[in-house]
Amino acid sequence: MEKETNYARFSTPATTGRGKRLYIETYGCQMNVNDSEVVTAIMQQAGFITTDNMSDADVLLVNTCSVRDNAEQRVWGRLEVFRLQKQRRPDVIVGVLGCMAERLKEELLENGTVDLVVGPDAYRSLPKLVAGAESGQKGINTLLSREETYADIAPVRTDKNGVTAFVSIMRGCNNACAYCVVPYTRGAERSRPAKTILQEVRTLLQNGYREVTLLGQNVNSYCWKEPGAPDNGTVTFARLLELVALLDPSLRVRFSTSHPKDMSNAVLYTMAMYPNICNHIHLPVQSGSNRILEKMHRGYSREHYLERIAKIREIIPECAITTDIIAGFCSETPDDHAQTLLLMRKVGYDAAFMFHYSERPNTKAARQFLDDVPPSLKTRRLNEIIALQNQLSLASNQRDTGKTFDVLAEGNSKRSDDFLFGRTSHNKVAVFPKAGFKPGDYVRVKITECSSATLIGDVVK
Ligand code: SAH
Ligand code: SF4
Ligand code: F3S
Repeated sequence: MEKETNYARFSTPATTGRGKRLYIETYGCQMNVNDSEVVTAIMQQAGFITTDNMSDADVLLVNTCSVRDNAEQRVWGRLEVFRLQKQRRPDVIVGVLGCMAERLKEELLENGTVDLVVGPDAYRSLPKLVAGAESGQKGINTLLSREETYADIAPVRTDKNGVTAFVSIMRGCNNACAYCVVPYTRGAERSRPAKTILQEVRTLLQNGYREVTLLGQNVNSYCWKEPGAPDNGTVTFARLLELVALLDPSLRVRFSTSHPKDMSNAVLYTMAMYPNICNHIHLPVQSGSNRILEKMHRGYSREHYLERIAKIREIIPECAITTDIIAGFCSETPDDHAQTLLLMRKVGYDAAFMFHYSERPNTKAARQFLDDVPPSLKTRRLNEIIALQNQLSLASNQRDTGKTFDVLAEGNSKRSDDFLFGRTSHNKVAVFPKAGFKPGDYVRVKITECSSATLIGDVVK
């Protein structure tokens, strides 16, 4: 009940916004997308109206990411645009939310353009801080919480396709990967009450949604203990996945991100048991070298990772596997890099997100290790990783050519309004002729051609 007390403390009458217009931009991961939906809900409840048009907005918010330096640079660029807008309309309020707010705190206020700095656990205080800023008081709230999960807030969906939605099941991270800023910006891990997750998914179903992605930095360590319930009141991630899948067989269920050190067989068996849980696991490896994995403090070896992959293939033979890879972490040698390329071939990833290492201030790596791989070498290694992944992705898509898949249509294809796009259970984008279908429909599509990024097919009636 702690959260409700919090809410009462920060809740503001609907007159606070008085019909003022709110514009919000979002950078970073899916969790930030979902957080912006929570922020929208809080602000609408306080009387604000959302707009997609920055030039009529009274309040400009940017929800930010700190994970790599270039993510932060993009936001500094946007703040320049907001500054120009403020020159035109000096009464406009500018707020920075999210991970950069948490990391940089007061430093952001020194920039002159910014009136508010609000960290990821302090969004309930936003209406009050906006009201303060209107009377000339710059506001900051970057308190991290051990309890806040915004469990009682129904996010206002901003993706607009009305088909797929993100649902946060936990916040924060208790791991300590040496390169990563997330534990500093998001605080300690906490799971959201299972009941509120199920209620949110039921509401999405009633509103016509057909796919949910359960989100957390490490979903495998989700654990909710129902207060007062006997021992069997414990909901693990495998159980949560099952409970969500049971809500409706026509609802697709995805999840992200799985940590290789915590991914249990129970989750794999649950996936195998329910056809509406998508056959896709995002399992970030980061590096193929044991020496680097240890230095990164990832908590698993190359052998353990490959054992998990073998188990996935054994229990769910048709499972797509994707990953994240960092090129050029501190002290990485040509041999470490070669190990990463070898491991990529061994697993045969269907897709990957690939980055060069970006030192983040105050992380363990920044404090203790030298960022000693020169930028040009990082780029060269990253390019090799990307080139290999392009081959692997193309091979994976070629293996799907000639096969038929159930595709959940999400919207019009970028190439033409006569085509729809959607995703297969494997999370691959497929483009196909409309043939009378609409977003939200499941369509049988036979794949006829592909690139490394997209499947193209015909509707099978
Ligand atoms: N919780 C997730 C990942 C969150 S961050 C997990 O543990 O897998 C998303 C990805 O960004 C990471 O998987 C990693 O590949 C990348 N990343 C994080 N910090 C980085 C840094 N300092 N430099 C480059 N890439 C980084
Ligand atoms: Fe960062 Fe590691 Fe936590 Fe992922 S598990 S958010 S990489 S500290
Ligand atoms: Fe970025 Fe924060 Fe997500 S650093 S990746 S927005 S948790």
